[in-house]
Amino acid sequence: MSITIKQLTPGFIGEVSGIDVTQTLTSAQAAELEAGMDRYAVLIYHDQRFSDDQQKAFSRNFGALEDTASATIVTGRRLDADMADVSNLGVDHKPLARDDRRRLFNLGNQLWHSDSSFKAVPAKFSLLSGRVVVDAGGNTEFADMRAAYDALDDRTKAEIEDLVCEHSLIYSRGLLGFTDITDQERASFRPVRQRLVRVHPASGRKSLYLSSHIGTIIGWPMPEARAFIRDLSEHAVQPRFTYSHKWRPFDLVMWDNRATMHRVRRFDETQVRDMRRTTVAGDSVTAEQLAA
Ligand code: OGA
Ligand code: MN
Repeated sequence: MSITIKQLTPGFIGEVSGIDVTQTLTSAQAAELEAGMDRYAVLIYHDQRFSDDQQKAFSRNFGALEDTASATIVTGRRLDADMADVSNLGVDHKPLARDDRRRLFNLGNQLWHSDSSFKAVPAKFSLLSGRVVVDAGGNTEFADMRAAYDALDDRTKAEIEDLVCEHSLIYSRGLLGFTDITDQERASFRPVRQRLVRVHPASGRKSLYLSSHIGTIIGWPMPEARAFIRDLSEHAVQPRFTYSHKWRPFDLVMWDNRATMHRVRRFDETQVRDMRRTTVAGDSVTAEQLAA
């Protein structure tokens, strides 16, 4: 069998068939999938019955894995540091209580974002495996930030070309009124700097590097920065630039954080939704960082 990638609508989504990615890949297969990522930015695979170790092994075809422990508030983990627990479950495998602090923190995933944009070296790919999915709600939506950039007028492109934003988990959580953050968390989630326009290393395409983690633009008054970022974000998530994924059990969705934003939609959280994410680390900064 050979790999086929079918283009869905809108065109930045590819549906992959003809390969079992729970098994070891040849380097040619890995290269073909990476080229697919560079072209599309989101790839969907069905019926991939991963164990955690198989998911990690597949993900490592695309680079080293991010340590996910520093990207969340930790109070006992279901999964090890190579996997982000994107489920709504506690260590007892039961849905978290409505007022559980971890659940309230995770609600930030309902805001459009790019994974790890709050890290000085932000993520390359994310790979999300749907182990137990819900049948109503809980879609994951994606926005093509290259198409959103291309559709800007020339004046706006010139204005944003060299802008640098500050990103922090504290900003995105603050948008939802989640402000009970310890001094230790505040220190580990200190803002980092990212360019607002980034160039994809493989395709050479420019994209808008937006994320709910943005709190300001360097050199701008904060309210003006936030109003502008909100305006650009509204532009970027127009239906013509977005896709909504309805999960089937054992779907794997893989996206390029350098070229897309995503969010999860609301669902009945008394139901089990067990989603597990591996994250391929990026290899470069987008902007110079402040000295510590
Ligand atoms: C993620 C995320 C979306 C979802 O895994 O990075 O934002 O559908 N999750 O749970
Ligand atoms: Mn995410």
